[in-house]
Amino acid sequence: MLAIIGGTGLTNLPNLEITKKEVVRTPYGDPSGYLTYGRIDNSIVIFLARHGYGHTLPPHEVNYRANIWALKSVGVTRVLAVNAVGGVAPDMGPGVLAVPDQVIDYTYGRKHTYFEADAPVTHIDFTDPYCNRARLLYLAAAKAADIPVLECGTLGVTQGPRLETRAEVMRLHRDGCTMIGMTTMPEAALAREQQLSYATLALSMNHAAGLGSSSDGIKLADADAVLKVGMEKVKQILAKAVEMHGAMPADQRGLN
Ligand code: HPA
Repeated sequence: MLAIIGGTGLTNLPNLEITKKEVVRTPYGDPSGYLTYGRIDNSIVIFLARHGYGHTLPPHEVNYRANIWALKSVGVTRVLAVNAVGGVAPDMGPGVLAVPDQVIDYTYGRKHTYFEADAPVTHIDFTDPYCNRARLLYLAAAKAADIPVLECGTLGVTQGPRLETRAEVMRLHRDGCTMIGMTTMPEAALAREQQLSYATLALSMNHAAGLGSSSDGIKLADADAVLKVGMEKVKQILAKAVEMHGAMPADQRGLN
């Protein structure tokens, strides 16, 4: 089964024909909200708002473990996530969409693994943090929706909730980050620990601090306007992705 985790600017899917809402309890506490089951053009999908349906949870307070556990426990095999980001690379200006293929994790103090306490020490392979089949699904869906999307990128994940300083952005740039967000980690790693196919679609809502139109600071009202327009495109891509996932053979609907 397919799930969508919506981030900032995506707390519901207007084209989702809702069939059920389910509250799932997990050994790790409560997820960000109930799971919303529904159909888009006859394909079944589960939606979860990462920050809660009223967008009340900041990035460092999201219970990533409970969210991924809840999805796994109801039979989800693939997660298509959505992340709002700031652009670092010149081609990641406001409004640009990308399907990142790499991650650098700068977060701290988050519950980032299921392998703790009595669990045997386990090192998951994370060379490629996103499932390539899920990434290709996103790219094919964008093509079908006729919406341009960058085919790769490195997403630096900061702790938040504050935005970065100029110097931090320069460091992220030197490290090779092409965009900055606050939530793909530990989400992607936890999905891998649970053997879920996971990829994200990133929407740039601003130039990162100190760059381009943010050279004198990030103008949040402008960023919100970009987010609103961009999320309409994200919804179109998701609708295609749900349909295409539903048409895949069963053995391709999970981690490759
Ligand atoms: N930095 C980190 N996360 C973000 C940004 C940013 O500039 N914009 C949207 N999410």
